[in-house]
Amino acid sequence: MLREQGSSFYKLSKKDTEYQILKNSEVQLNQQYAFYYSGRSAMFAVLEHINSNQKINTLWIPDYYCQNVVNFLKRNYPNLKTYYINAFNCSQNFNYLRFTKKDDVIILNNFWGLFTYAIDKKSIHRPTIIEDFSHGWLTKQCLNSAADYCIASVRKSYPIPGGGVAWIPNKQFNFHEDAIDDEMLSAFETLDASISEKSNFLKQNKGSKQSYLELLNKGETHISASNSYVHPQKELSDLIETHIKLNPNIPKAANLKIVRPLLRKNKHFKIVERKGFEPFGLLLLFKEKMVYDNFKLFCISHKIYPANLWPNNQLRTEWKHFLNFHVDFRYNDSDMKYLAEIINHWSSQNI
Ligand SMILES: Cc1ncc(COP(=O)(O)O)c(C=O)c1O
Repeated sequence: MLREQGSSFYKLSKKDTEYQILKNSEVQLNQQYAFYYSGRSAMFAVLEHINSNQKINTLWIPDYYCQNVVNFLKRNYPNLKTYYINAFNCSQNFNYLRFTKKDDVIILNNFWGLFTYAIDKKSIHRPTIIEDFSHGWLTKQCLNSAADYCIASVRKSYPIPGGGVAWIPNKQFNFHEDAIDDEMLSAFETLDASISEKSNFLKQNKGSKQSYLELLNKGETHISASNSYVHPQKELSDLIETHIKLNPNIPKAANLKIVRPLLRKNKHFKIVERKGFEPFGLLLLFKEKMVYDNFKLFCISHKIYPANLWPNNQLRTEWKHFLNFHVDFRYNDSDMKYLAEIINHWSSQNI
């Protein structure tokens, strides 16, 4: 197996150790989830469901958010406005009632699996609330959300070629468009080919990195071109169904327990974490862009590929350059030790 830490998933067979680890984390789900091809489609379904019952006055989104979602929402909802939130201050008491009205809809993003929002279920003066759990799938906040609607891009947590879910906590939700979406059919095929090729490349040294990355980009382009909330084809629905009950936070917590104590302190970065909460990955926050770029290149040169969440955002905070290191079911204790060794190596050269 070639060493590569981070970046996109690769396909797993039931016999793979990584799959076994994930499979051991099966939990019982108590909500009824509606399935979609992507997180954006799930969001679209929820917004159209709200739209079918009321006129949305303003749709509020955080000004620090996934650019793909922002572009998608801009395309469909001209009444979009952004609000400021410090995405790295997990324990703040964020008061969205300051700026929202009753007929508004607000998207609250569960940043990095660490946020909690106060939601007064009974209030009749508050806006309709959608909580996005793409980075906090199956965290305690996700399982117990008091939002009116919730969504998650579950393809961020599992090696499957697509997947988004939407739900109304403790109620039924099943809202789909009756259409055929050729973009999503192509996305599924292309992403499936990409994760298969990546698996062959890493596990059998066959094919090329360039080829699976090209397929990945192509698949993502199809997802971005889609503008629907259709039900996914059976093959994908079955994959979503079998995967969503596997709790990705269990292997992540085990890996973080190994890597976290090994990391030496460095004045250039902070570790974003919250006691008692389950983060999406190992989260490092930098102040200086140049130092951040240098650190990222150092990691890449050692075949560690953290995700930059999110580029092109105009944050007001001093510390704003953010990296997520993947610590999911794909990795074992030796990978975690290697990760700590590389980060500490950089730290020792950058005091
Ligand atoms: C927080 C968040 N929500 C939603 C999405 C949308 O998910 P998808 O790419 O599956 O549409 C993304 C990423 O794209 C995301 O980062």
